[in-house]
Amino acid sequence: MTARTCLTIVLAAGEGTRMRSSRPKVLHAIGGRSLIAHTLAAAGEAGGTVAVVVGPDHDAVVRAATAAMPAAEIFVQTERRGTAHAVLAARPALARGADDVLVVFADTPLITGQTLARLRAALAAGAGVAVLGFRPADPAGYGRLIADPDGRLLAIREDKDASPAERSIGLCNAGLMALSGTAALAVLDRIGDDNARREFYLTDAVAIARAIGLATVALETTEDEVLGVNSHAQLAQAEGVLQRRLRAAAHEAGVVMVAPETVHLCADTRLGRDVTIEPYVVFGPGVTVEDGAVIRSFCHLEGAHVGPGARVGPFARLRPGARLDADVHVGNFVEVKEARLAAGAKANHLAYIGDASVGAGANIGAGTITCNFDGVAKHLTEIGAGAFIGSNSALVAPVKIGDRAYVASGSVITKDVPADALAFGRARQSNKAGLAARLRAMLGAAKKKP
Ligand code: UD1
Ligand code: MG
Repeated sequence: MTARTCLTIVLAAGEGTRMRSSRPKVLHAIGGRSLIAHTLAAAGEAGGTVAVVVGPDHDAVVRAATAAMPAAEIFVQTERRGTAHAVLAARPALARGADDVLVVFADTPLITGQTLARLRAALAAGAGVAVLGFRPADPAGYGRLIADPDGRLLAIREDKDASPAERSIGLCNAGLMALSGTAALAVLDRIGDDNARREFYLTDAVAIARAIGLATVALETTEDEVLGVNSHAQLAQAEGVLQRRLRAAAHEAGVVMVAPETVHLCADTRLGRDVTIEPYVVFGPGVTVEDGAVIRSFCHLEGAHVGPGARVGPFARLRPGARLDADVHVGNFVEVKEARLAAGAKANHLAYIGDASVGAGANIGAGTITCNFDGVAKHLTEIGAGAFIGSNSALVAPVKIGDRAYVASGSVITKDVPADALAFGRARQSNKAGLAARLRAMLGAAKKKP
């Protein structure tokens, strides 16, 4: 089958009015990735070249599509006149020819490369048109797959054009379609707009293909896979399906999650073997966790790398650019941003480590703050290997703490500390013998006076 060439046309020209959002619908995200990027990933798995059809003024969609798939060719559908009309916006790509033509909707993000491969296999087996059917709990609004008594697919009837008998059919059109490349343009060019919505329906391709003697087949899939996103409620539903898939894949790969339904993953989350994710952890985009690391409850990670054997949380926040090497410990209420903690470094409680490097085995005491921002620019804090930062210290960047140096608790450090030095950056303590008792007596007497 790999010898056959393929063109996948992704339709993304819709307005998405039901999202009530200024953002184009296909730029909304599930699993931290835009709907169009999910669809393009599936198209990429199907193989071959990809064309994306966008609406006019959809620059942001073009940027997202190009970022997700630089080789994708972009076509603009200037007027929204139906799904077949949208496919024909990619006429130059169709005219170049491909053995298989796949049409997918950009707002159907859960479609898998495997299912697209099944549609291609149907073409390879001789079908002129192959469509994907499913049996939704509520078929209202969907096109119905009309079959003859032997189960052969005859036509697709849109809901608005269907007779009551046709509306009672449970098998619906998921929207995706595969067309034999040699016949695709001939079929598409015959589609008219004589229907209730005066649109050029891609679904008419089935009856036309039969009329010119091509075989047409329907494959079936689950409702989950072809869930279309038209509203925020459906976006959340799609997110739920995706999360279940991502968690199942993580379990499959050897990740320990005892309450997977409380763990939120991203499409690009990479988890090694024997990683433990405790309940209630949120992964934003761009996180890698290496083998044997433990992410304890209530952590939020984004754009972060967690090395092998590291321990994070509970209640830790790793922001973009956080890089923890092997066996690093980052404990409760510690925030790390744009900072690398080398092997074995520890920041176990209540700290902010931003724009910093922390050497191997260094110990960051509770309440340590890297003061990285002066109100205008960000500055670096460099902490050497084996250094010890006493609790409640403020390290005012730019500043360097040398290897094995010691910062006394409660210090405000504004000057570099050389290696092996002990730095005090706090007021000297003085004790006044008996003064507490005298003070209390004085204050008590003052209170008794009227
Ligand atoms: C379509 C199918 C219907 C199927 C349903 C599944 C047709 C005619 N009908 O109906 O049988 O049951 O999907 O969800 O295909 N688009 C454009 N340009 C256009 C029109 C649409 O790019 O001019 C894009 C939309 O952005 C969307 C996709 O095509 O991604 C489907 O269009 P939509 O209007 O949602 O079709 P449905 O009425 O849902
Ligand atoms: Mg739709």
